[in-house]
Order: sequence, then structure tokens, then C-alpha cells
Amino acid sequence: MCGIVGYIGERNAVDTIINGLSHLEYKGYDSAGIAVPQGAGVTIIRAVGKLDNLKEALSGKEIAATMGIGHIRWQAHTEVNAHPNRSDHIVLVHDGIVENYKELKDKLLNAGYQFQSDTDTEVITHLIHSMYKGDLSKAVYDAVAKVKGAYAVLAISTKEPEKLVAARRSSPLIIGVEEGGYIATSDIPAALEITRDFISLDDGDLALITPKNITIYDNTGKSIQRSTIHIDWDEEMAERDGFDDFMIKEIHEQPRTIMDTLRGKIIPDEGRIFLGELQELDVANLERIIFLACGTSWHASLLGKQFIERYAHIPVEVDIASEFPYRDLQLNKNTLCICISQSGETTDTKVAMRSALDKGAQVLAICNVVGASLAKESTYAIYTHAGPEISIASTKAFTSQALTILLIALWLGERRKVTDNKQIAEIFKDLMIVPERINAILEQKEAVKAVADQYKDSKNFVYLGRNLTAPIALEGALKLKETSYIHAEGYPAGELRHGPIALLDKTFPAMFLAPGIKVQESIFSILQEAKAKGGRVVAVFSEKDRDNHPECDHALFVPDCEVEEMAVFLTVVVAQLFAYYCAKGLGRDIDKPRNLSKAVI
Ligand code: AGP
Repeated sequence: MCGIVGYIGERNAVDTIINGLSHLEYKGYDSAGIAVPQGAGVTIIRAVGKLDNLKEALSGKEIAATMGIGHIRWQAHTEVNAHPNRSDHIVLVHDGIVENYKELKDKLLNAGYQFQSDTDTEVITHLIHSMYKGDLSKAVYDAVAKVKGAYAVLAISTKEPEKLVAARRSSPLIIGVEEGGYIATSDIPAALEITRDFISLDDGDLALITPKNITIYDNTGKSIQRSTIHIDWDEEMAERDGFDDFMIKEIHEQPRTIMDTLRGKIIPDEGRIFLGELQELDVANLERIIFLACGTSWHASLLGKQFIERYAHIPVEVDIASEFPYRDLQLNKNTLCICISQSGETTDTKVAMRSALDKGAQVLAICNVVGASLAKESTYAIYTHAGPEISIASTKAFTSQALTILLIALWLGERRKVTDNKQIAEIFKDLMIVPERINAILEQKEAVKAVADQYKDSKNFVYLGRNLTAPIALEGALKLKETSYIHAEGYPAGELRHGPIALLDKTFPAMFLAPGIKVQESIFSILQEAKAKGGRVVAVFSEKDRDNHPECDHALFVPDCEVEEMAVFLTVVVAQLFAYYCAKGLGRDIDKPRNLSKAVI
């Protein structure tokens, strides 16, 4: 997982690129580097470790440059494997995976090229060099045509110091446009201090950029126009906004991001929903829906199953994306595969999407990153508009995903005459209060912290939910795992007695998610049994049960809801806070947990 930034224009390239990379640190932080043309040559400076080490290496050096490229990456623990990568007059940064690098490397070795690193990227650099005949963009175009796999590359040549060439396939790459210059980068936050206007490149596109102009070629080599999109993220949305960590900041953003997700899609009082993105979908003949996703997005899919079956009466399956391609399935256009992905770049989900399309299904992508590969390749795409999610632990994206699927479920139900506008208006009435209820939870976050402090030293945890909170049990367990490194498992509460209850004792606590929902009584009885058998129990209840809930060791409360689905959005916030405070108490690097990256490509 890497982040790349290239700049060409009137600004100081080193400052612009380093500042851009600092907004991409979530993409990787084991090495970083920058290259800027200097006279007839090029200055390349790389450093292992976090970006601060590169800044340290640059300090005191007067490097005057108005163009250059930079890179930050994970899994490059040696300087030689850091980018930028050089082959004579060609210098390159790359985000992606060259699947056929062995075959290409052998050919280049036979042609006399020497390799300095064991990165697959170096193959691309030498390939461009081997194809260079005086035109950098042509050389890049011809070289990437031979690459199998994902790439987002930025290339410069000391022979053409006024040119920056950008190209992508599958890996993210967008170009920020301002008066007097361009910034090409993996993700929007890197450019927000410069511009909010971006050109989103399609797969196979190549952009030739000079200080005053940009020419874009599609995958056939034809010069084309790509539209400019205006991103209304204000800068603080991409900054910590005064919080210790992006995770806690993003947890606190949820009241706002829930409204952002809804904005322009509903008329609450009339119970009306507008999903123009789906206007071509033949809803009447829709026979089957299959969700495809990973991790937190898969948990949102499990909620989506319940919402769609309840409000649209369409049978729904939920597949782990990485397993779906192995299913021997014949689908048709009356199957809708819904691929959920915050980043829109998760390879497992993209592979599953392509498999679904190959099997004859239509695909709807639900993404949070505008212009992401998944959105571009699918039949339909809906954005969650949760703003940049920097913390590797996904929080606000989850609630936005769940809300988006709820809207889709109601929209489908309305068109299939299963759910009417009056019912939808009732749901929206309660939905519109969710932001203030989340704020009420956030105002009581110290209560969650106090309980987390009692459990942060646990080595294990089991999370239990039922019906709508069963997916929240899985999500809460994942949050705890990936931020605090405490082993945690999520189960439907009914499963506890089929084995896991043997685990419970004072050292192996259980978290019951039991807000006021339809099946509450039955989950109460399971909680009582876990307690009676010596378990240590922490539970989340609705406020209305404050005085009449089963005995437990610690209880947390969420505001009452009229519509049971809304309790999901509240309960997950408590689970997010609980995980955050356990991890904080353990001194974990919360936004950059070990071994993880924001998008698994
Ligand atoms: C969530 O907190 C994790 N970071 C991870 O499970 C993530 O949800 C998963 O990798 C899917 O990512 P995506 O939504 O970007 O596809």
C-alpha cells in the first residue's frame, strides 16, 4: 500500500510534495522518498521509517524545484526498496502490484539492465527507459501496456524536465488542478490545501502534464477530455481537527457524516427517496441480491441483508468477497451484486466484482472515495460521502454504508410496492434524530472510557448480538482486534451456548449488545446464563432499560429509539468508543495499527 504525489507548476515542489505525503501517511509509513530535477540531473532523497525521517534528511538542503515526485509506502523496510526508483534519466514512483514482474524482469536482465532493489516497481522504471525514444509519455504508455496488474505511476525524465507523466490502472490516481499548476496524487487529502478541483483518471488513462497544460489519453492512446469534479471537503475534514487521533475524530464526525450521506437523497416528511444513480435498474424483475465485501464493509453488508429482506422482500446473500469468485454460479441481469468498499480499491472486492460481472450479474458499488476503481468499473455506483476516512479502523464509513443500504432497501421496497411512503416517513422521522442521539453518546464518552479502562488488559473478548446487532457484534470485535490487538470474536448471541460459553470466566469477558430491539428478551436470558455461569459481562442497553436490565458487571446505555434499526447506529458508536479507549489505554498506535493498511490492494 503506497501513497504517491507529483507536482508541476509555480510552487516550491519539495514543500508541496512533502505536505501532500503528510496527508497520505495512513497509506503507509515504513519508507518515503522524493525526486526533483536539478539542472541536467535529478536529486533523489529517500528515508526508511516515517515521513519525519525524510523531512529530517531534507532539512538544511536548499532544493529549488517547481516539479517533482514523491512516495510513501508500507512494507519497504530498506532504503534501497524505497521509492522513487531510477533508471538512468527516468525516475518513477508507483502504487500497485506488477503481477508479471518476474517475466518482465528476466527480459530486462537479458537486455543488460541491472536491478538495485527487489521491488516490482523497478521493472516499470527500466521498462520505460528501454522504450524511451525521445518522448516520455509514449515510453510510459508503451511500458505500462506490458504490465499486468495494478499501477498508478508518476514518471519524470531529466531529458524532459518540464514534463510530468501520470498513468493508472486499478490503483487510485487523481489530478488536482489549480491556476498555475497540477498535483497528481493517490488520494484527495494530499491536495486539499492547494485545490478542491480534481480530474479523476479512468483505468488505462495517461496524463501528460506541463506547468501550463494537461493532455489526457485513454487506453487506446486517443486524446480525450475528463471532467473536473469539485470536492467540497473542507481541509479540517482531512486533518485531526484537534483530536488525538483520526479514529476518535472520525467517530465524532458521524452525526455530520450521517446527514451528509442523506443530503440530497430524501424528503423526510414525505417519505421519499431519490437514488438517481439507480434509475436504469429494472427493479420489478430483480430476483436476487448478493453482497460482496471485506471486513467492516462485510459487516455493513450483513445489516444490508436484513434491511433489504425486511423492506423490499428480495432474497439476499452476503459473501466474503475473496471467496465469491470460487462459487460456481450462473447469474443474470436480474441479479444485483452490491459491492461495498470504503476505499473502492480493495483488490478482493474488485476481483469479486469482476467475477460477478463475468457471471452475468449487474453490480452496484457503494464507495466512499470519489472516482475509486470499484465505482468506475461497476454498473451503478453510489457514494457514501462520509469524507476522507484516514484512520485504518473504519468507523464513520461503516455508519454511512449501513445508512446508504437502508436507503436502498427502502427505495427498492417503495418501487416494489412492499413499503409505502408513510412507513418510510415514520422511519425517517426517527432517523433524523440519530445524529443528536449519537451526540448524546459522545457527550457521555467518559462513561465508555471508564468501562474500557476496566477491560483494556483483557487478553480475549467475545461480542454477542442478535438480529440487527449480530453484525454489530462482529464489527465491535473487529474494532477491538485491529486497534488494541486484544483477541476478540463476534457471535450471534444464540451461538454462545453451542460452544463459546465454555470460554467465559473472569478473564474472558463478554460484551452483550442488547439495545431495545425486537428480540431483546431472548438476548437478556442468554446474558443471564452467561453471568450465572461465571462470566464477566459488560452490556449495552437502551436507556429505557436502565432500571430493569439483567445483572451484569458493567452496563452502558444508548438513547431510546422508536424504530429498532436506529439502535444499530447508536450501539456501534459505543463499540467504536470502547475499542478506541481500550487501545488508547494500551498506548497503541491507533491510526496506524501494526500490519494493517487502509486499503488492502
Ligand atoms: C476496517 O476497520 C478494516 N480496516 C478493514 O476490515 C476494512 O473494512 C476492509 O479492509 C475493507 O476495506 P474497504 O471497505 O476499503 O474495501
